[in-house]
Amino acid sequence: MIKLNNIEATYTTVRGKVKAVEGVNLEIPDSIILGIAGESGCGKSTLMKVIYGDTGFPLSLSNGSVDYGFENEKMQPVTNQNIQSEWFRNISYIPQSSMSSLNPVVRIRDQFTDFPATSGRKRETLEKVREFVQMLGLPPESIDSYPHQLSGGMQQRIMVALATFLHPSIILADEPTTALDVVVQKDILILLMRLQRMMKNTIIFVSHDMGVHYQVTHKMMIMYAAKAVEYANTNDIFSNPLHPYTLMLTSSLPTIGDERARTGLPGRPPSLWDPPKGCRFAMRCPLATPLCHETEPELLQHQPGRFSACHRVDAVPALAAKMHHGPKLSEFAKDRELIAKVGSALKADATEGAAIREELE
Ligand SMILES: Nc1ncnc2c1ncn2[C@@H]1O[C@H](COP(=O)(O)OP(=O)(O)OP(=O)(O)O)[C@@H](O)[C@H]1O
Ligand code: SF4
Ligand SMILES: [Mg+2]
Repeated sequence: MIKLNNIEATYTTVRGKVKAVEGVNLEIPDSIILGIAGESGCGKSTLMKVIYGDTGFPLSLSNGSVDYGFENEKMQPVTNQNIQSEWFRNISYIPQSSMSSLNPVVRIRDQFTDFPATSGRKRETLEKVREFVQMLGLPPESIDSYPHQLSGGMQQRIMVALATFLHPSIILADEPTTALDVVVQKDILILLMRLQRMMKNTIIFVSHDMGVHYQVTHKMMIMYAAKAVEYANTNDIFSNPLHPYTLMLTSSLPTIGDERARTGLPGRPPSLWDPPKGCRFAMRCPLATPLCHETEPELLQHQPGRFSACHRVDAVPALAAKMHHGPKLSEFAKDRELIAKVGSALKADATEGAAIREELE
């Protein structure tokens, strides 16, 4: 189990310090796909960097710690202090816009032998890499290319291969399919799900796309303005959210057969430079009361395994009914094209996903 203990992450800039993640406490069970969602700038990528232990300037872990739930070769518990020596072997990271993370002047094969865990065994490693990329649907000789000689989809598969070929127990994937066309997105998602099932590792997956979260993840954390506002099983997040922001995030999605115009989520999150007192969502929340503007709600467990940071959890179902929320779970997707091309193609794997979920629950 990965434990995030009161994480606070700060960027130091010429303008001053800004807290991009604040007070995040979370226990992530092993062998699940955890989704993290929330609007742009809410701190998703920052939290991923913290979990990866990549907190060099201007980012710092200004408070809190991470426990990864396993020991290193010296039999010491792995924490944010020593996670860097586990990179690739036990934890790997597919960063946002990861295709540009491939070094353009280094052949792909050399990027696989470039880190401590593989550097001493180049020949043996390359043989395994060729086999592995083939299993991921790439020609084995693709690793002899430079990144620009491959298509975007192939580069992204290479990134997935780099992140997974040592079978790490934790994989962090930050928008792994953004900027790819829909069919390639589908392939990459299926690939990640298959690898997760095969390796039984934990994947933490960031996406803006709630439809993809529904199809791929077991649990979700919703972030708003640097805070965790809801954490629950994915089915509960969609069918019966306990936070108004989650409700609005899922309700702003188009659904099949529903021709009504969707208004999206009105307003904008507050600036992290000057966050309001009280609940950060209060300015946009239809349930806000004076208490909400005064006192910040804590993330509390309201039902077994279901956490929400809201003073008015009991009023959320009535708001959902008023908003005509949630026709059918399976109808959630970002757009028709996605559900048509990806959703149906994912069905086989969604069934696999359901099997994994059943196994876990
Ligand atoms: N290098 C940086 N220097 C200063 N501030 C930063 C830096 N990177 C991110 N931030 C700020 O930290 C906050 C959180 O950024 P982060 O990239 O974690 O958000 P995000 O949720 O991943 O957004 P997106 O969905 O757009 O990727 C934002 O307000 C952003 O402006
Ligand atoms: S605490 Fe108040 S403002 Fe914040 S989400 Fe709940 S009801 Fe809305
Ligand atoms: Mg991001």
